[in-house]
Amino acid sequence: MTQRPQSPGAQVRARTSATPRQVAFDVLRAVADDDAYANLLLPTRLRRARLSGADAAFATELTYGTLRRRGHYDLVIAHAAGRAIEAIDAVALDVLRLGAHQLLGMSTPAHAAVGETVELTRRARAARTTGFVNAVLRTIARDDDAVWTQRLLEGVTDPDERAGIAHAHPAWLVHALRAALEREGRGGELDDLLVANNAAPRVTLTALPGLSEAEALGDRTPYSPVGARSAAGDPAGHPLVASGAARVQDEGSQLAALALSRARPAQAGERWLDLCAGPGGKAALLAAEARAAGAVLTANEVVPARAELVRRALRAVDPAVEVRVGDGRAIGDLEPETYDRILLDAPCTGLGALRRRPEARWRKTAADVAPLAALQGQLLRSALAALRPGGVLAYVTCSPHPDETTAIVDALLAEYSTEVAPLDARAVLAGIARTPLDLGGLAHGAAQLWPHRHGTDAMFIQLLTRR
Ligand SMILES: C[S@@+](CC[C@H](N)C(=O)[O-])C[C@H]1O[C@@H](n2cnc3c(N)ncnc32)[C@H](O)[C@@H]1O
Repeated sequence: MTQRPQSPGAQVRARTSATPRQVAFDVLRAVADDDAYANLLLPTRLRRARLSGADAAFATELTYGTLRRRGHYDLVIAHAAGRAIEAIDAVALDVLRLGAHQLLGMSTPAHAAVGETVELTRRARAARTTGFVNAVLRTIARDDDAVWTQRLLEGVTDPDERAGIAHAHPAWLVHALRAALEREGRGGELDDLLVANNAAPRVTLTALPGLSEAEALGDRTPYSPVGARSAAGDPAGHPLVASGAARVQDEGSQLAALALSRARPAQAGERWLDLCAGPGGKAALLAAEARAAGAVLTANEVVPARAELVRRALRAVDPAVEVRVGDGRAIGDLEPETYDRILLDAPCTGLGALRRRPEARWRKTAADVAPLAALQGQLLRSALAALRPGGVLAYVTCSPHPDETTAIVDALLAEYSTEVAPLDARAVLAGIARTPLDLGGLAHGAAQLWPHRHGTDAMFIQLLTRR
């Protein structure tokens, strides 16, 4: 009997016996069972399965899309199965989520989405649920996502819950994002933001000043003077990235670091501090800026392994930068009135980077915010004590949540009204940006970047000075 020739993808799969759907399934299981981060795990799994090109793209969209829209699909699955999600076997549920995304979120033909996904159930040693999975997927396949969404919205009146169902965000998070937009009088942008949170971000690169030029990396990004979009392929393979002269970094993070380094002209000999530096993305840009200005940067990080990442990040820029391991809350007492510029890129919920962390919105809860807000307040007071009178402090979060951003700043300014003054971060960014930035109108000159408006993570930037 003659055998049919196999496609290169099929030949590789025969060798490694991992299909794109299996890779996606394995990552979903690791996210559920081991609290794994999909964006860290998937690249390894793709390499191990030797998937590339269209197969890797399919596995990536299937993994990230399923994780992002998980809550939405769970509602669809519960409806189609006629039982609560909690009553469905965990392995079968992950298979159903993958099937739902192929049927409702990707243009996978229904016969392939159902057939190949049911096959996953067999391989996952959950064969006893094969009939159930098959039946539920066939029910889901009868309608498209718009029809399912209308069905799920029936009888739901709360606007945040409705937006959450339609755009796959938990209602508490919709509520917080709405509040954050309303601070700027831009509540009408909520749907645009939720849609943007569901899209994969484009990779942006930073050309570190003195080491590389943005033009050499690809198309320039609209705002950051050191930003570019990777021309093609894996950015890690770009020689300037490989040598450490350029970095993969969100454009919003670039602007946050530059808001500090370029808030005013730097003098030689200035002392700069990156208080919460791990893993070192902004520290690398600050180190390049400090070197050009003749300033001296110190980086601090509380987690030793993350401090090591900072050392690695700084190696190609300025290996002389001191990297310390320590609790940033102690620095104000240890080194009062010492630094001319301080970056406090505070530990936060990361709710501004939902595009990059597909499972995050379902893992975080409203209860995560308060302990982080307390830590942010303590770190900010410590940073303030370590700032020289007349110095510049940048308070930055990759979360737009009002409790982590404006509320922290308001409380500080109320407590230290005679000692601390806000600086106009929007004016500083207007002077840095290559094209005009629409930054809304937050109090105290604060700047809030947004995925839907700027194509960046939702970075919050407040500049402060000490009188
Ligand atoms: C948002 S991340 C900083 C990101 C970094 N600036 C970058 O661009 O790569 C916050 C960091 O603060 C660290 N951190 C948390 N609590 C801290 C503390 N009490 N003192 C110093 N660092 C802390 C975390 O380990 C984390 O690495």
